[in-house]
Amino acid sequence: MARDDRPIGVFDSGIGGLTVLKEIFRALPGENTIYLGDTARVPYGSKSGETVVRYSLEIAEFLVKQGIKLFVVACNTASAYAIPELKKRLKIPVIGVIEPGAKAAIEATRTKRVGIIGTEGTIKSNSYVNAINALMNNKTENIIEHGEKSLDRYFEIRSGDFVIFTKACPLFVSLAEEGWTSNDIALLTAEHYLRGIKKENPDTLVLGCTHYPVLKDAISKVMGPEIKLIDSAVETVKVIGDILKNRNILRDSTEKPSRKFYVTDSPERFVKVGERFLEQKIEYIEKIVVSC
Ligand code: DGL
Repeated sequence: MARDDRPIGVFDSGIGGLTVLKEIFRALPGENTIYLGDTARVPYGSKSGETVVRYSLEIAEFLVKQGIKLFVVACNTASAYAIPELKKRLKIPVIGVIEPGAKAAIEATRTKRVGIIGTEGTIKSNSYVNAINALMNNKTENIIEHGEKSLDRYFEIRSGDFVIFTKACPLFVSLAEEGWTSNDIALLTAEHYLRGIKKENPDTLVLGCTHYPVLKDAISKVMGPEIKLIDSAVETVKVIGDILKNRNILRDSTEKPSRKFYVTDSPERFVKVGERFLEQKIEYIEKIVVSC
């Protein structure tokens, strides 16, 4: 077997993509990694698609220069908007989180009633619905808007025999970063955000944002234990493992891997919150400037 020491490049708008990186550490412990958090420009979730694509291309250029063998877009919002352009421009494999998450939701659901939660950008892009449609050969037939205020608003989307409920939950990002993941505020926020979707009785809920797996307990408490929660991070890393194996580019070494971190703003907060997300120390971190 060939041994490929080139690192895997993982990109997120900030800290949230560490949920994907943590899963890479767990499932592919020998791999060298470079993580880039665009902390100077986070959040991506409330920005236009055009801006998110531009940022993503700038980050890709930096990481490709570091000699990565695979470009992982851990950020759901960047995956929602930038994957086609990144695939067009990069010569290495590009893996986003939307398609693996959509595939896992299709496999998990029995009733074909699926909830999807994410940032405003991800929900607006309809990328999870489009990915489910593409995999199922379905077409969106009807979109109904429920709820008047933004806190209550969710969408009911009928595609083939699927009924998909989508909802933006922007405050979950701040709660996860504050470490308020299972206190009364987290629960109350989850109750407010999720009550509309819960009423619709989905059997599967896609956590379509990097930060939401951190709030899994609160989300599960609100939705009930019988609802299957899809963590895109876990599904994406399965795809990464398959690509490395199929292309014969695994590192396949027991030597200690190199795990580098880059951020675009000062590293202090990233290290503090990041070590909590990762449950391990960040040893090498550098602030960089990215531009095309
Ligand atoms: N990483 C983003 C995502 O998964 C969440 C944070 C942001 O809005 O930038 O969509």
